[in-house]
Amino acid sequence: MKFYNFKGERVFTPGPVEIPDRIREALSKQIIHHRTKEFTEAFLKTRELFKKLISNPSENFVFFASSGTGAMEASVQNFFKAGDKVVAVVGGKFGERWAELGRCWGLDVIELSIEWGKSVDPEAVEDVIKKHPDVKGILLQMSESSTGAYHDVKAIGEITKNKDILLVVDAITALGVYNIKPYEWGIDVIVGGSQKAFMLPPGLSILWFSEKAERKLNNRAYYFSVKKEVEKQKEGQTAYTPAITLILALKEALEIMLEVGIEELERKYSKMAEGVRRALEELGCKVFPENPVISLTAALPPVGIEADKLRKVLLSMGIRLAGGQGKVKGKIFRISHMGMDYLDMVQAISSIELALKELGKKIQFGKGVGTYLNVIYS
Ligand SMILES: Cc1ncc(COP(=O)(O)O)c(C=O)c1O
Repeated sequence: MKFYNFKGERVFTPGPVEIPDRIREALSKQIIHHRTKEFTEAFLKTRELFKKLISNPSENFVFFASSGTGAMEASVQNFFKAGDKVVAVVGGKFGERWAELGRCWGLDVIELSIEWGKSVDPEAVEDVIKKHPDVKGILLQMSESSTGAYHDVKAIGEITKNKDILLVVDAITALGVYNIKPYEWGIDVIVGGSQKAFMLPPGLSILWFSEKAERKLNNRAYYFSVKKEVEKQKEGQTAYTPAITLILALKEALEIMLEVGIEELERKYSKMAEGVRRALEELGCKVFPENPVISLTAALPPVGIEADKLRKVLLSMGIRLAGGQGKVKGKIFRISHMGMDYLDMVQAISSIELALKELGKKIQFGKGVGTYLNVIYS
């Protein structure tokens, strides 16, 4: 069948995600200068809203004009010194990134490798710490987006809380999705990125840090200096030219998110995730990770169908899903829930039904969609 597509492409990838109209309007405004009262006021307001998102009154957070990896690099530079021993949980592409960044900045990285798609066992983290009592940090993802696996940062926080160990969490696809409670859970550093649940274009990263992490701050970084930035940003300014437009649009994004509330956002994403998983299974797909995140779904297509062929047919309909990366390249496909409404997933699932049929699979139309709707309506 020929799929006509006049409307352009819909982006269902786990970052960047589609940008709501209200945010696009904020992005389309004429630039303002950043060394002005107008910018300072808007920036301080944005900071207040961000505090509400993580229910945390601390001023210990900064925004950088960079993609998420910039804030990951800043974490490694600012809170550790060369020679510090850290554990990087490696079960996907972004776990690998922690290990690479650590080595790049002279840290002594112990890789805690797990099969891609699996979640790390907190006991395994405890064992490494027992074996290496001089460990200074645990670096991991809360949502390992390359496989869709969830790592239980709360359980790991219980282990590191009362030790001289920083728990550094890449929450790039978890911030704005989960109701993260950094103090309660014992998290020391949280990293986020604008093009995920904040529904903004890429280019803005976020780094939050605890008092325990604050005591470790050093002067190793220049552009990514947390010390320099946090002093300026608390006063509504930045050390260097900020991503002005993205900051102003972030204010709008946070307002949208807080109108729903983070608890409700988490509930919505959980339901959506459950519905998408059940629908895909109904269509013969297999959800890839054992313990999946709610920010996206990663799945294997039905036996006999190649993931990238399925994505190609979907693209001909104007539906862009993401593929696998690294060790799971070509094996899985991934759909974002971040920034998506319930009905967006109806389009994604019905398109998958159509594409599977096109690829020769016996499909009863509506089976996946019906399953999904039953889950979200329950
Ligand atoms: C969990 C996770 N970590 C890190 C990154 C890298 O972020 P960026 O591409 O914004 O540098 C991503 C991006 O997809 C991610 O999902």
